Amino acid sequence: KRGITILGIESSCDDTSAAIIRDGVILSNVVAGQKVHEEYGGVVPELASRAHQQNIIPVVDLALKRAGISKEEVSAVAFTRGPGLLGSLLVGTSFAKGFSLAAGIPLIEVNHLRGHVLALFIKEKDTKFNPPRFPFLCLLVSGGNSQIIKVHDYLHMEVIGQTIDDAAGEAFDKCAKVMGLPYPGGPHVDRLAKEGNPHRFEFSKPRISGLDYSFSGLKTNFLYFLRDNIKENNNFIEENKNDLCASLQHTIIEILLNKLKRAAKETGIKEIALAGGVSANSGLRSALKNEAEKRGWHLVIPKFEYTMDNAAMIAITGYYKYLNNEFAAQNIVPFARTQL
Ligand code: KG4
Repeated sequence: KRGITILGIESSCDDTSAAIIRDGVILSNVVAGQKVHEEYGGVVPELASRAHQQNIIPVVDLALKRAGISKEEVSAVAFTRGPGLLGSLLVGTSFAKGFSLAAGIPLIEVNHLRGHVLALFIKEKDTKFNPPRFPFLCLLVSGGNSQIIKVHDYLHMEVIGQTIDDAAGEAFDKCAKVMGLPYPGGPHVDRLAKEGNPHRFEFSKPRISGLDYSFSGLKTNFLYFLRDNIKENNNFIEENKNDLCASLQHTIIEILLNKLKRAAKETGIKEIALAGGVSANSGLRSALKNEAEKRGWHLVIPKFEYTMDNAAMIAITGYYKYLNNEFAAQNIVPFARTQL
């Protein structure tokens, strides 16, 4: 008996990825990034779908090869249905349909956001498995989303707070852009913040009721702050880059943590997890660890490679849907905008 082997396909934005998961254990996870967008300072949708088109077959071949399995051993193919860029999603969706038809195996649709959450359940051979226990609160922070999710079970999730405008990753990226940093700016802000004073500058924090977030005010405040200071000193950004990054990052983390603390208090849940690309941020990780120690939270932060867009998270979600007999029909279409 070989077990359940899922091929996962992710193509929602600018990474083409394929992964193999067998009985919940990762066998391979291949991610091909796209350099073409760098000179534009952001992802160009048409270029992204063209690159997916070129990458998808070699990426899947490599994922099978690294897993040491043949196509015939795949039990089902799971793909990202959305949210994402439609042209990009179409490439992964069409590939998955073709593969499922040719191999005569089931097709499984996966919501990208749920994938980010279930990345917490990817098992690695020879590594201690420390998943969060249900129910837990997941702070999902990426380039497109900032949400607090109450996770009841693998397939039962509830959004209890979310951004009403920009995502946390967008706040990082857009503020980085006005400082002249390359795209995506989040990792650069993180790096520069390490040598800076987080209390040097004060930026505005939103006053939003409930558990929702807002980051557009901070972005505007940051932009005007720079503009006013550049008027007085042309080299303001250059001379204060580290302090600007540290203070900006500190503000974003405070905004994220305030609502998360509130959510933990209101729900009485002490199982806390982090997911999405921004969870790579070193300041956010250490602030969360401090908070967890202080409040007795059991904190789970996924391995870096599973926080960025990747197909392993799509394959693990596909695995749990397979166990629950949740399959998709051949006439399924991708959605650019979908809720969790
Ligand atoms: O989850 P992800 O790969 O893509 C989406 O599905 O949105 O997240 C990408 C986002 C970008 O905004 C990027 O700047 C941010 O995650 N990011 C970071 C760091 N690494 C990635 N933001 C802050 N600090 C980091 N170290």
